[in-house]
Amino acid sequence: MRDLRELLENNRAWSERIKQQDPGFFQALAQQQTPRYLWIGCSDSRVPATQLVGLRPGELFVHRNVANVVVHTDFNCLSVLQFAVDLLKVKHVIVCGHDGCGGVQAAMRNLKLGLTDNWLRHVQDVMHGHEGLLAEISDEAHRLNRLCELNVIEQVLNVSRTTIVQNAWSRGQEVTVHGWIYGIGDGLLRDLNICITNQSELSTAYEDAVRT
Ligand code: CO
Repeated sequence: MRDLRELLENNRAWSERIKQQDPGFFQALAQQQTPRYLWIGCSDSRVPATQLVGLRPGELFVHRNVANVVVHTDFNCLSVLQFAVDLLKVKHVIVCGHDGCGGVQAAMRNLKLGLTDNWLRHVQDVMHGHEGLLAEISDEAHRLNRLCELNVIEQVLNVSRTTIVQNAWSRGQEVTVHGWIYGIGDGLLRDLNICITNQSELSTAYEDAVRT
């Protein structure tokens, strides 16, 4: 099959539906985007960022990768962050992981998947950093979900430590970094109680989130 007719038909129906509800919707969006939020999440097809927070096109700036990792040498993620913070002036950066994450599981089990293994080394670094905490959890599914949470907490720290967020804070720009987990089984988001608005909150917020 060379064509993806079903998807294109779905798209036409979707566009029609929106135009019926709001005739000027696409024209207004074509002028500009003013999202208030940046979402950094996993590529997992079960975690559709914009849909699950009930937002419409134009309201959520999105970066997704395997296991929602923020690395200081990843110019893809950093460019998205810089564009969102410096140009779009988003007020919130949300790092959202999800339970049962295949990437985190592969890291935890040290599976050999190919190129991705190198990417997932960053998640293994998180795992090694919290070995003691994780060793106390005997059930593997629970241990995996705790590592998914710890991974989010670490990535919130990484976002907060980027030059982009650090510079925004030092010039007085309001940017808050949040850590959330999405439940694949119930469709609900859970706040991991890590919410960082400035440099001075960084280490206490991190330590509190890891402890809870
Ligand atoms: Co995932």
